[in-house]
Amino acid sequence: MDAKLNKDEVREAYRKSAPTYDIWSGLTESKSRQRCLEVADIKNGESVLEVAVGTGILFEKILQLNSTGRNEGIDLTEEMLSRARARAQKSGASGYVLKIGDAYHLQYSDNSFDVVLSSYMFDLIPEKDFVAILREFKRVLRKGGRIVLANMTKGPSWFNAVWQWLYKNRPSLLGGCRGIELKPYLEEVGFEKIRREYVIQMLFPSEVIYGVKP
Ligand SMILES: C[S@@+](CC[C@H](N)C(=O)[O-])C[C@H]1O[C@@H](n2cnc3c(N)ncnc32)[C@H](O)[C@@H]1O
Repeated sequence: MDAKLNKDEVREAYRKSAPTYDIWSGLTESKSRQRCLEVADIKNGESVLEVAVGTGILFEKILQLNSTGRNEGIDLTEEMLSRARARAQKSGASGYVLKIGDAYHLQYSDNSFDVVLSSYMFDLIPEKDFVAILREFKRVLRKGGRIVLANMTKGPSWFNAVWQWLYKNRPSLLGGCRGIELKPYLEEVGFEKIRREYVIQMLFPSEVIYGVKP
């Protein structure tokens, strides 16, 4: 199934859901976000970019792990980003940048990050755009840099049909997310050492994907 919401509709969906976003996302996605951090294995002092920071749940943890490094976060939706800013400020961290930005056109030079992370964004994006966005992520990563992604995926059993039915009939209830599988696209773009983990939380199926820029 392909994405049902266009970019303006995605922005509108997250403008509306920003105040309650953390409740749903905490119940169904916290395990995979934690796994992203473990897999990314950020060393203090590295350059880290998070694309689609949302309300900044992951970004706050990145700031703790990388207090002496460069930390940048972007998101399409001001209402989500303002929550990320408040969260980062409350954490007492400094020296980070959080700004409006679009995954399709990263405003960073080539080879500028050690790690690029993004959680629960690709599952909103049309499949035809996966390769172009992954190429953008690869462009800004330095040689040997790591990409770490989490997204809703297809579950192996009966509840997959329930999520698919919901997406087909009420996509806004899922925040516009549907189950996808990203590994073949990372292969196509030329990432190496690709690993995929399946994570299930409250019957919500996610995958965590890791790759390295050769
Ligand atoms: C489901 S939320 C995920 C937020 C956060 N990463 C998390 O795991 O909680 C999706 C986020 O992706 C952002 N987004 C969607 N398309 C984007 C794009 N093209 N570029 C940057 N952010 C985007 C939305 O504004 C929203 O904040």
